[in-house]
Amino acid sequence: MIRRGDEAMPPACRCQDAMPVPNQGEVMPQIIGVPKETAAGEKRVATVPEVVEKLVKLGFAVRLQSGAGEGANCSDDSYRAAGAEVVATAAELWSGSDIVFKVGVPTPEEVGLMREGGTLIGFIWPAQNPELMQQLAAKKATVLAIDSLPRTLSRAQKMDALTSQAGVAGYRAVIEAANAFGRFFNGQITAAGKVPPAKVFIAGAGVAGLAAIGTAANLGAIVRANDTRAEVADQVVSLGGEFVKVDYEEEGSGGGGYAKVMSEGFQQAQREMYAQQAREVDIIITTALIPGKPAPRLITAEMVKSMKPGSVIVDMAAERGGNCELTEAGRAVVKHGVTIIGYTDLNSRLAKQSSTLYATNLFRLTEELCKTKDGVINVNMEDDAIRGLTVVKDGGITWPPPPVKQPAAAPKPAAAAAKPAEKKGHGHGGGGEPMSVKALAILFGLGALAFWFVGSYAPPAFLNHFTVFVLACFVGYMVVWNVTPALHTPLMSVTNAISSIICIGALVQIAPPIESTADRPGIWILGLAVAGIVLTTINMFGGFAVTRRMLDMFRK
Ligand code: NAI
Repeated sequence: MIRRGDEAMPPACRCQDAMPVPNQGEVMPQIIGVPKETAAGEKRVATVPEVVEKLVKLGFAVRLQSGAGEGANCSDDSYRAAGAEVVATAAELWSGSDIVFKVGVPTPEEVGLMREGGTLIGFIWPAQNPELMQQLAAKKATVLAIDSLPRTLSRAQKMDALTSQAGVAGYRAVIEAANAFGRFFNGQITAAGKVPPAKVFIAGAGVAGLAAIGTAANLGAIVRANDTRAEVADQVVSLGGEFVKVDYEEEGSGGGGYAKVMSEGFQQAQREMYAQQAREVDIIITTALIPGKPAPRLITAEMVKSMKPGSVIVDMAAERGGNCELTEAGRAVVKHGVTIIGYTDLNSRLAKQSSTLYATNLFRLTEELCKTKDGVINVNMEDDAIRGLTVVKDGGITWPPPPVKQPAAAPKPAAAAAKPAEKKGHGHGGGGEPMSVKALAILFGLGALAFWFVGSYAPPAFLNHFTVFVLACFVGYMVVWNVTPALHTPLMSVTNAISSIICIGALVQIAPPIESTADRPGIWILGLAVAGIVLTTINMFGGFAVTRRMLDMFRK
């Protein structure tokens, strides 16, 4: 921890004009530095002005290399307005920052500029970059590789940059396909004739694939998808796609939400199905990936030849060798009349969006690292998520981490864990074990006894109301607990609308029943009743309107 007056503090970290000067003994806020990305074509930036404000609120000082946000449409001035200090050169930035936020893997030159004992947070890919790891260790650095985050931990999801970036890339893949395709995505009936909807086939329904399915379906295309992991079929359908199964029984899950290499028999059956899809569809988007392996070859040259002229293939796995035999990484080419897009910079093609999500992931991580909100991070190796992504700690290589002790990481327990969650949404609330028959019988017995007791002493009118109340609770319980959790919000709004039945009370006040001998209501009662009717009418119609809009989101 750095304190005012600490002699060991590097000169670059003292005397920061832009930084608040703490009192004697007070903790000195650390400086988060954001350099300009140096990889060719990289337009993303590791933080955006909206996030700078939040980092400053957490107690940090933020520095930015001039022009770092240009590619993502964030000017130096917008960073300054958010509270960052802008420096001119990479050298000033790297040497003067306690923590560096980066997107791309740092180059040896960049690591050379880094100050000794500093912290680096960004994509590192430790398995692929052993030399970089050694270089960082020699700098006595602490390195948090955002790509090594244990993704199966649910509380790590907010920091999951692989997911946020793949989601943006999946969306962009569809936009690239639409750009290269010569027709509408949605079917249309116009005065000039009928236009059929485009047919899109998505290979691989992981994060990028699911984002592509949702985007293509929203544009109005007919979407089909396939994945070796059969458990994603429901997700494909929920996003508006159709899951196309391979006619071969084999478990495709390799654990931790990833696929495994399939048997030759499966691959043969899959090739036949893909060949048929290639003949039928207009657009293929491939996202198939098995971690640590080259991309599986799913689309052969023969399949490309069989596609209709003007069709499009977007091969998202181009960087890993491509899912299509004819893909050229980083380029769009036309072969056999089919445009094959192998761009490897889909995120940079949507730089502002990608940067904003990435910056938010890093901010969430910073929050975890700085629970004291005093602008000083604490890399707690006892925390599973932090341990998982810390690949170098104070110059010692700590990668690979020990396996995360979490049942969801293993395939079998993950499947088992899914079951109680499913039950939670289907009738047993609370997520616990379903009640045994004996316990249920005892509960009912006690209930009946309580009812008899109340009935023996309470007036008959009370008993009537009480019976209705108990039945209403029972019916309400059965209805609400049997509704899928995703539909709870529309259910609430419709309940809200129905509860506006209170309106009837107000109506009765305005006009007492004809046979009633009661006097006409006074002006106050009348006024309140009219106000009641107006308000409950808004509530009623608003509730139904909201329900309708929400249900429309589920219909496709
Ligand atoms: P992911 O791991 O979430 O999804 C990959 C999916 O492919 C999994 O669902 C897996 O079960 C499936 N799969 C594996 N082998 C298969 C096979 N033989 N047949 C059918 N499905 C199979 O990965 P994510 O994050 O969705 O990324 C997808 C791809 O996009 C990766 O190759 C990634 O490197 C790439 N990517 C490319 C970008 C670009 O700019 N081009 C940007 C971001 C990601």
